[in-house]
Amino acid sequence: MNLPFEPFADIPSLQLAVTDAFCELAKKSVSESGGFRVSLSGGSTPKRVYEMLADRDLPWDQIHWYWGDERNVPQDHSDSNYLMVKTALLDKVAIPESNIHPVPVNVESPDQAASAYERTLMDGLGACPPKFDLVLLGMGDDAHTASLFPETTALGETERSFVENWVPKFDAFRYTMTYPAIAAGKNIWFIITGSAKQDALKQVIAGESNASVYPSQRINPTRWFVSSDCIAS
Ligand code: 6PG
Repeated sequence: MNLPFEPFADIPSLQLAVTDAFCELAKKSVSESGGFRVSLSGGSTPKRVYEMLADRDLPWDQIHWYWGDERNVPQDHSDSNYLMVKTALLDKVAIPESNIHPVPVNVESPDQAASAYERTLMDGLGACPPKFDLVLLGMGDDAHTASLFPETTALGETERSFVENWVPKFDAFRYTMTYPAIAAGKNIWFIITGSAKQDALKQVIAGESNASVYPSQRINPTRWFVSSDCIAS
């Protein structure tokens, strides 16, 4: 299989590389445009990156933190992507509250919460779809990314930037950036680790085009960060 990237030997070296690249891009963006707007991914892979960022010297006042997807749970729930980032990074560094833009989860009315977050993205990024300086994305072993899960409604969204998405496998709503919003990102990084993703990654890179089953096929990342355990031998 021809790979569009050089795999990392192990997960810690991948996470360090992402951390270093994040810092370099953030500083470059702030020096060039005065700010850095990032859409964060949930999941275990980027969590270590967020923890390592807390120990770095970054222009914290000029960085704005958004979420590319969220679970339909309160912000203090253990499944919350906001809580994961808060614990890993936001509570450890003096970041202005006005720079932190969590999804305003409304468990009973996820449609209202998604619409409200679209307005937040419009206010913060000034465009629809929003042009993030960096979109961080993971990929699940079912080839989902953000909360664009196989055979779900959000895959077909072509106008909106951020929607609620019913996910039958969880019997729950999720919130997610849509394909147009992801594609508008200036930098789009895929961060993929774990041997359980070998089949999904093979389909995404070299499989027949079938994005409803393998949603990550429709992502065109500007950088891949993939560990060697994801590469089928
Ligand atoms: C989420 C993430 C999700 C994640 C993948 C990979 O809300 O869970 O946004 O899309 O990126 O599930 O997660 P890991 O990095 O933990 O494998």
